[in-house]
Amino acid sequence: MDYSEAFPVIDRHTWLNHAAISPWPAAVGDAMRGFVDMNVAQGPLGYAKWLDTEQSLRRRAAALIGAEQDDLALIKNTSEGLSLIAAGLDWQPGDALVCCAGDFPSNLMPWHQLVPDFVDVREVPFDVGDPETVLLGALDDDVRVLAVSSVRYDSGVRLDLDRLGHAAHRVGALLVVDAIQHLGALPMNVAEAPVDFVVGGSHKWLLAPEGLALFWSRPSARRRLRTLQTGWRMWPDMFNFERSDWTRPDTARRFEPGTLNMAGIHGLDASLELLQSIDPAARAEQLLDRTGWLIDGLARMPGIEIVTPAERGRRAGIVCFVPANRDPDAVLKRLASRSIFAARRGRSVRLSPNFYTPENQIERALEVIAGIATHDVD
Ligand SMILES: Cc1ncc(COP(=O)(O)O)c(C=O)c1O
Repeated sequence: MDYSEAFPVIDRHTWLNHAAISPWPAAVGDAMRGFVDMNVAQGPLGYAKWLDTEQSLRRRAAALIGAEQDDLALIKNTSEGLSLIAAGLDWQPGDALVCCAGDFPSNLMPWHQLVPDFVDVREVPFDVGDPETVLLGALDDDVRVLAVSSVRYDSGVRLDLDRLGHAAHRVGALLVVDAIQHLGALPMNVAEAPVDFVVGGSHKWLLAPEGLALFWSRPSARRRLRTLQTGWRMWPDMFNFERSDWTRPDTARRFEPGTLNMAGIHGLDASLELLQSIDPAARAEQLLDRTGWLIDGLARMPGIEIVTPAERGRRAGIVCFVPANRDPDAVLKRLASRSIFAARRGRSVRLSPNFYTPENQIERALEVIAGIATHDVD
């Protein structure tokens, strides 16, 4: 399938950096431009339309993860969601939490900095081969939270949320999931998965502008969070400024105190419309094909250490490898000189294609990497 009209970046670059920030699809650009034009021409006279787009986004976002709209909040970013959980939970002396060493800072800092000092923070090593066993080994009856990234930013490993969630629930712990490297890449269904909080920002696999994130909470878990932010926009009749009852709503709208990122909402609504126009299972298979081709190609190159597991169920959109006797930055430089964009994470080069990445672009990237493996780097 030719996606070049929907994804104009294809004609300009080989974008293997969706795990950082994604280029906007044409539809997102159109929606953002429409919002800009409307505002330049008439300011907020189109406010009712803004609100229609907000509602449309709420419907699409709920459908994306199999959620009820009432359980989904629109917040600023993944870091904010994780911070709201860490700072808001009803921690008690004797409580513990389990998080993963080497996780993205936003899924470590809140657990170290925002929970009370008396909480036993267990940061367990991350075993690329079998992360769940190590994590489950750290669970006991004191643990209130198990915090993971469902897809790791640094290795591309996909975790088994079913296994983790069931084990967490058996000891009375909540499963908190940073899903920014998952949402939009692979399906997620919160109605079926044993998860309690799921947070994921918009600018990676959701293909939308920065500054917006989906924050899903199970009602029973949500009720355990203290109020950290409050404001006028939390209620369905938000324009009733004379209200005297300021009781917070039970819904996830309690996490939306004030004015939302309307520009971002227009972009994310358009990207979700596009994503949902393509069968999610087929999209996931296309993405897994592409990461599989990368792994197969890299495996044929001598000396390269592939960090990401080859097993299909163990990965998503990220492939990390340690180049043979080369500085990862030199590899990135060579790739960039061929208009192929990737990232460095630790010792690894991180490649993150998307379902729409043409097969010949994957082949070309592999050729360039193979060339580097056998020749001097510029
Ligand atoms: C796993 C993970 N969590 C969180 C973030 C940061 O997300 P946000 O900027 O939405 O807080 C990133 C970004 O790279 C990430 O890879």
